[in-house]
Amino acid sequence: MLLARTAQKVSRLRTSYLEIFNYVRSGRVTPTPGSYVRIASSPRAFHGASCLREQIGGRLELPQILENYKKAVEFPPATYDFETFLSQASPGQDVVLHGYLGVRSDISKKLSFVRLQDPTMNFSIQLVSTSHNDSFEKLRSLRPNSPVTVMGKVQAKKAKNAEMEKRDPWEISLNDVQLLNDFPSDIWMAPDMVHPPKHRHLQLRTSSELRDALRFRAQVRNVCREELEQSRPSFTEIETPLLFKSTPEGAREFLVPTRKHGLAYALPQSPQQYKQILMASGIPRYYQFARCFRDEDLRADRQPEFTQLDLEMSFATGEDVMRVVEGIIRRLWSNLMNTEAPSGPFHRLSYQDAMSRYGSDKPDTRYGMEIYRIEHLLPVDLVNKITPLASPFVEIFKVVGNETDPSATSEFITRFLDSPAGAPFNDNPEGAPGIFVYDAKMPLRGLQPFGFQAAEYVEELLEPDHGDLLVIQAREAAPFAGGSTPIGDLRRALHSAAVETGFKPDSTGFDFHWIVDFPLFSPSTESEPGQGGAAGISSTHHPFTAPKTAADVDMLLTDPTKVAADHYDLVVNGIELGGGSRRIHDAAVQEFVLRDVLQMPPERLTDFSHLLEALRAGCPPHAGLALGFDRLVAVMLGKDSVRDVIAFPKTGKLGEDPMVKAPSMVTQEALETYHLRLIEE
Ligand code: AMO
Repeated sequence: MLLARTAQKVSRLRTSYLEIFNYVRSGRVTPTPGSYVRIASSPRAFHGASCLREQIGGRLELPQILENYKKAVEFPPATYDFETFLSQASPGQDVVLHGYLGVRSDISKKLSFVRLQDPTMNFSIQLVSTSHNDSFEKLRSLRPNSPVTVMGKVQAKKAKNAEMEKRDPWEISLNDVQLLNDFPSDIWMAPDMVHPPKHRHLQLRTSSELRDALRFRAQVRNVCREELEQSRPSFTEIETPLLFKSTPEGAREFLVPTRKHGLAYALPQSPQQYKQILMASGIPRYYQFARCFRDEDLRADRQPEFTQLDLEMSFATGEDVMRVVEGIIRRLWSNLMNTEAPSGPFHRLSYQDAMSRYGSDKPDTRYGMEIYRIEHLLPVDLVNKITPLASPFVEIFKVVGNETDPSATSEFITRFLDSPAGAPFNDNPEGAPGIFVYDAKMPLRGLQPFGFQAAEYVEELLEPDHGDLLVIQAREAAPFAGGSTPIGDLRRALHSAAVETGFKPDSTGFDFHWIVDFPLFSPSTESEPGQGGAAGISSTHHPFTAPKTAADVDMLLTDPTKVAADHYDLVVNGIELGGGSRRIHDAAVQEFVLRDVLQMPPERLTDFSHLLEALRAGCPPHAGLALGFDRLVAVMLGKDSVRDVIAFPKTGKLGEDPMVKAPSMVTQEALETYHLRLIEE
């Protein structure tokens, strides 16, 4: 074992320059006459050091590598950052600037131009180099994208016209250039080039949009902080531990094994329990930009590791929290957005209304397409045609179509249903959607299967125009559960397809609203871990949410499935931006919910003893919320995916970081350290 480990270490160390140098000296390289040592390009000689091999590749000599490095160890500070320089420059001034070289134009044997991009890559200036100066040959030996220090004299640039002169008035006559690191010829990098995720550093370097998004993200953070710090009483930013313990809060967790036999931490799904404990600890208002970890499948708006702007207030209700959050949103919009800040209290919609009118608990309400129940009007044979369900609910919505040409509407819907996006709706076990194009020239305007009476009622209800699309869909006659219904998903998918194909214009603006009155408990599902109770129900959000009214408290005993939660989700344009609630601040009631309502086993109940103990110590009433910070930034920038606002996002279904290749296989050594054993799959 010891031998194996030593061998491993040796091969790892050989990736260092020193090791390679010594390795080379030990005789496994080909000395070249006239040079101190020449490194062979044999793959064997540089096993495990592929990037070095590329760099050295038999071309550079080790002493030379060290000499080059020494030249970059010390470099003069820049006299200016570019922004200040460009506003204060004057002819004849001597300057030192840092930046990246652009592509050089060799105008003649005696004259070269090259632009120097500043370190932020937001500004650039032209360097002029002539053969009279010693730096001329040096500059000509440097590759584009290399980081350099340049020394030179400011001079006015000869511009073709006044507009160009105003935009780019200065240039630097080069006196000296110092290479700080070479940019290798085998890396291809050009503006706006798309790089694979494993080369995220190149993507960041070439995409100004991505870099701007990260800067914008930092601004959003500052504005949120400003709002919370300036409110009265002000919020205190407090960091809570990342090495937490496993508790059945709702989502699947990531475990962190320790060296102590059988013991592991869990990474927090959110700082929920710590922030409630802070409320019991006499901290009246807390906030944090909190890293959260959830082992869930990735989606455009989901990462296994993400950031929340998390807050909590004591002696407060949900109303107080909603007011604070509206204040944050208003400040963000008025400080950072070009559109008007949302005014007045945000509109509220109950879960029940959101699900019945839009088929979603996070509806995009900007594009209409409201849903109505119509099964009581429909002829039985039509219902039987669209669903195998007995006595189903049937719902309908309208898509504004092509007024002048109904065949264009037919073409749009046929394409959609034949596409992969349409497949889940065709394959719906509760029946595929029924599609009707409203056509004034057809008998009963294309609605014959409805029969005369139902067709008339539908016309009254939806007021369709010539060319509009009417979509009907059946579902089980059951109360709403979960985040959407099939017709709600279809409504959303059809709108997206209509926008993508140019059939409809995209919706604009930001429509914020609160979704309230969620059920406190939902039926347990296989896919969500929930709280692992035996009652067949799980908390819809988390088990610390308070019932909404005194009547709801009573129903905890009689019918928990009917209890409304004092929970509120902040939704904008079909995206759940945040969620929060008033909490159960009474230890006995919290214990009753965990033990008797959810019927959690005693051993899992003890996982929450720290929280119960804190609530028991005279914890005041409290409420809070967490905004999905990545989603917030993505919404503000109009990005479809949170990956576009995260420096190093995870990719793939399982959340890999292809750049650093994480997660990686656990070594035998690590397994032993943590007292773990892999079982065969
Ligand atoms: P919740 O689970 O609703 O509430 O999370 C709050 C917000 O965080 C964002 N979010 C995510 N963003 C990116 N990737 C994810 N995997 C992800 N999961 C959630 C969403 C969501 O609205 N402790 C409670 C908050 C509270 O009650 O105070 C909580 O975490 O925008």
